[in-house]
Amino acid sequence: MGRAFVYVILGGGVTAGYAALEFTRKGVQPGELCIISEESVAPYERPALSKGYLLPEAPARLPAFHTCVGAIDERLTPKWYKEHGIELVLGTRVKAADLRRKTLLTATGETISYKTLIIATGARALKLEEFGIRGAGAENICYLRSLSDANKLVDVMKASSGGHAVVIGGGYIGMECAAALVTNRIRVTMVFPEAHCMARLFTPKIADFYEEYYESKGVNFIKGTVLASFENNSDGKVMAVILRDGTRVPTDMVVVGIGITPNTSLFEGQLTMDKGGIKVNGQMQTSNSSVYAVGDVAAFPVKLFGGGVRRLEHVDSARQTARHAVSAIMEPGKTREFDYLPFFYSRVFGLSWQFYGDNRGEVVHYGDFAGARFGAYWVDRGRVVGAFLEGGDREEYEAIAKVIRLKIEVKDLAELETQGLNFAVQV
Ligand code: FDA
Ligand code: NAD
Repeated sequence: MGRAFVYVILGGGVTAGYAALEFTRKGVQPGELCIISEESVAPYERPALSKGYLLPEAPARLPAFHTCVGAIDERLTPKWYKEHGIELVLGTRVKAADLRRKTLLTATGETISYKTLIIATGARALKLEEFGIRGAGAENICYLRSLSDANKLVDVMKASSGGHAVVIGGGYIGMECAAALVTNRIRVTMVFPEAHCMARLFTPKIADFYEEYYESKGVNFIKGTVLASFENNSDGKVMAVILRDGTRVPTDMVVVGIGITPNTSLFEGQLTMDKGGIKVNGQMQTSNSSVYAVGDVAAFPVKLFGGGVRRLEHVDSARQTARHAVSAIMEPGKTREFDYLPFFYSRVFGLSWQFYGDNRGEVVHYGDFAGARFGAYWVDRGRVVGAFLEGGDREEYEAIAKVIRLKIEVKDLAELETQGLNFAVQV
């Protein structure tokens, strides 16, 4: 049993939706394109899961956040795929890929063949079991990667209303979920191993601001340690978290955000890997010329950083790599090397920040930390390579992005500090 397509997208997340729209704009014909996804819904804007989806009042629900509404573009409902003759194979896991034969084998036993494959398998959340923690399968322990995870989190939050949650991990999921829990009137203790939150990006000074803000909302931080075990009741529910130093934190629920690992296992030994993902060139093409990789799973050269290979885990790079791969497939020869400016953002409570570039080199902070309008520049070998801004407006965010894009030279760091945001606005 089998079906054949010209183009197959393996994975039905953010990149799949943006790639599908781009395919139609580049003239894909009905019947040529197929998307295979383990999830049972059409591609959606995953960032909504830790923001609008968790709101206690008027939460976001599908079909409102199908891709590509996040980029203020068309909203692709299941009807849209049907109208464009795009086959959506949902609720179906691909369990084997044979890149020599150009076939994918699904868990339902179907073989789907392609001429060109786009790998869009994203990543999965790391599990506490992988760090040797027992009892981590309890029903009131939540992760957040998929819509079904989000539904479970909403249910557990409802059952824990007025109670207490422990959040494990001080990264994006930890920070965004802690804010959502507070908004749902659940008291939060955050536990993470680093000295401050968002250690991959924030400087200690920036982290101090957010930690103080969270503390003002009642969040308690336990830093520099990890959990050792769970204390479960006779129903198997977690009642308390035991930390490595023996501290016992009673709780009604637990949210875990301890990082992700890219879904590459189908391709190990078949494709060249790098940075934990699948290595691609400036056309998003892998070491097999019929196979492209995009989004969280792709490790691509960043021209702006001298061609250094990066694997980014953010929605903007998912959208842009998807569009670029389709362009390279449909218009080979016309598509230039991918030239991406790394862009990350987050929104929590009433706060909102954006970051462009790379956080390496010396840091110069500026602005009004007390008034929640501040930022930082990262300067490496005399040029601004990274820029962060909290509380900016559209023009200001565009200005800091431009500074990085143009690799503006800086001679005097003290002068840069004095100029602050004006330095970017005047470029
Ligand atoms: P994505 O994970 O979206 O999709 C992968 C798809 O492949 C899934 O549908 C999966 O089921 C499917 N799949 C995997 N293996 C398969 C197999 N073998 N067979 C079939 N299907 C398979 N970023 C940001 O910049 N700003 C933000 O605010 C946020 N917020 C945010 C919130 C939450 C809760 C999460 C989890 C993530 C974010 N992100 C984010 C990150 C962003 O969502 C992420 O970078 C993109 O979703 C990556 O898109 P991909 O398409 O690569 O993977
Ligand atoms: P992360 O890498 O941002 O943070 C992981 C955190 O886990 C670390 O900061 C550390 O504190 C903690 N940690 C690691 N190992 C641990 C352990 N053994 N015990 C306790 N804590 C441990 O990953 P995440 O927060 O899980 O986010 C998952 C993915 O979702 C990432 O790819 C992220 O980029 C993406 N995401 C992005 C956004 C955004 O861009 N606004 C929002 C949500 C999620």
